[in-house]
Amino acid sequence: MKFRRNIIITGGAGFIGSHVVRLFVNKYPEYRIINVDKLTYAGNLANLKDVELAENYSFEKADICDYAQMSQLMSDYSVDGIIHLAAESHVDRSIKDPFAFAYTNIIGTLTLLQAAKLYWESTEEKYEGKLFYHISTDEVFGALEMDGTMFTEETKYNPHSPYSASKASSDHFVRAFHDTYGMPTILTNCSNNYGPYQFPEKLIPLFIHNICQRKPLPVYGKGENVRDWLYVVDHARAIDVIFHKGKVADSYNIGGFNEWKNIDLIKVMIKTVDKLLGNPDGYSLDLITYVTDRAGHDLRYAIDSSKLKNELGWEPSLQFEEGIEKTVRWYLENQDWLDNITSGEYEKYYEEMYKNR
Ligand code: NAD
Ligand code: DAU
Repeated sequence: MKFRRNIIITGGAGFIGSHVVRLFVNKYPEYRIINVDKLTYAGNLANLKDVELAENYSFEKADICDYAQMSQLMSDYSVDGIIHLAAESHVDRSIKDPFAFAYTNIIGTLTLLQAAKLYWESTEEKYEGKLFYHISTDEVFGALEMDGTMFTEETKYNPHSPYSASKASSDHFVRAFHDTYGMPTILTNCSNNYGPYQFPEKLIPLFIHNICQRKPLPVYGKGENVRDWLYVVDHARAIDVIFHKGKVADSYNIGGFNEWKNIDLIKVMIKTVDKLLGNPDGYSLDLITYVTDRAGHDLRYAIDSSKLKNELGWEPSLQFEEGIEKTVRWYLENQDWLDNITSGEYEKYYEEMYKNR
């Protein structure tokens, strides 16, 4: 079967990537979607059970740092679009092992850019009809004070963690490939995502899991840091709109104007889980445990996504209260998914990570 487009989605077995793959496979049967993922601890093909047999879906287990593999995939599938999500994504892990982040996030992105460059330049149409879309984070902008200001597309980069430093570097390489070689690129910086299939080392799934298990909820510092939360399916919808209608060489901020102080968000989660488990209101509040703060913990993130709304008409579809209830329900109904992930190797990592806190 001949497909109208051949699109690689890297990191498609991860949290956000799996939602992007699902959306594209279902919405665009005329596109072939090639999920390129190394299946690190964060990659899980169980996230894609519902689309794995689709005719327009292929999975390739491959490492974005492997130039030969990336070049081969570009030509084997005649790839004309890349949506690049594969990364090491957890800030706490980057504090423990910054090299893994430099390697995957910087060298991996550069490898993919170079493989795309050489392949696209070898085709008759060159860069015509091609797009390299890089998924980045609001963390590259650094930290805000509690003063109501927000990150815009013009905010200067000022990353603090090894994770955000590696993502910032990869963003610079993407822009450099446009400015130097004329590669059509787009870049987006999104705020914190939540929803189904998120690996339970991140705040929301970790705390839902721990409440269910009656385990302590390790709140970093005083719980006063602020994050701006977006339901993952709304992020995938934004990626779809930007991939098709975004302006080449531009960048867009993605966020839901939904700031929460960690401790307030945690109390909403406790209330929701207790309600759905049939526990009395306030039953799990005693699990809150204040622990040593994250090193270099950014105080506040807040994304101004008005450019995306004004230029491309995207808006989040879910209110936070609805999104969080949907998310808690999903984790409660998918205990098998959670149990598979939280057994074995991850359990050892988690114990090690928290033993000194
Ligand atoms: P994740 O950790 O859940 O998934 C990452 C995926 O990348 C996994 O499937 C993993 O196997 C794969 N991967 C890692 N190294 C690889 C390699 N060398 N080669 C091929 N595949 C590899 O991450 P996520 O939370 O879904 O984030 C996806 C992207 O979105 C990342 O680039 C992240 O920086 C960005 N982002 C995340 C958030 C968030 O809140 N989670 C917010 C904004 C931006
Ligand atoms: O802002 C976008 C970023 O959001 C993405 O680029 C990252 O990939 C993603 O991991 C996320 O980073 P954060 O560090 O903000 O997310 P995390 O879920 O790790 O933490 C959210 C907040 O909760 C943060 O202030 C730290 C705090 N926290 C986290 C954990 C895991 C705790 O208090 N206790 C915890 O156990």
